[in-house]
Amino acid sequence: MTSVTVMLEDELQTIAMGQKIAAIIHAPFTLYLTGDLGAGKTTFSRGLIQSLGHTGAVKSPTYTIVEPYELNGMDVFHFDLYRLADPEELEFMGIRDYFTQQSLCIVEWPDQGFGLLPEADVHIHLKYVDQGREMTLVANSLQGEQLIKQL
Ligand SMILES: Nc1ncnc2c1ncn2[C@@H]1O[C@H](COP(=O)(O)OP(=O)(O)OP(=O)(O)O)[C@@H](O)[C@H]1O
Ligand SMILES: [Mg+2]
Repeated sequence: MTSVTVMLEDELQTIAMGQKIAAIIHAPFTLYLTGDLGAGKTTFSRGLIQSLGHTGAVKSPTYTIVEPYELNGMDVFHFDLYRLADPEELEFMGIRDYFTQQSLCIVEWPDQGFGLLPEADVHIHLKYVDQGREMTLVANSLQGEQLIKQL
């Protein structure tokens, strides 16, 4: 299992990790983001999505569950499953249709969709350490390993 851990001292470093990954990621790819409330999942996603070319704000799709973008020739879907009452809701929204060869899926709170989400290529874990955050990236596929090796 390939994994790498980095220390992110402030918000800018979290955004910079998103930018770094934006430069090397390509579809199809699934990223899971796990970490406590306020750990930086949306901050990282914002860095990634804006670096892929989105110029507006990146709102947390807490109530809408998913926010779609078309960036860099990819269908980018930013999920936040925090408020999902029941994983079955994912069936109703046709969750599988989001995971195509053209899509980059970024999923905050993937545990909430356990059993109904495709496995991640890279699972990112964010943890509070002092004033900053520790980020661990774990590869779960060949594509995931290749991405982590390029970091
Ligand atoms: N490396 C860092 N060090 C310190 N603060 C950080 C770091 N990265 C992000 N932050 C700050 O922590 C907060 C993270 O909020 P964010 O919305 O990104 O968290 P989240 O994990 O998406 O939370 P939620 O589970 O509520 O969606 C922001 O205020 C951001 O400025
Ligand atoms: Mg969030």
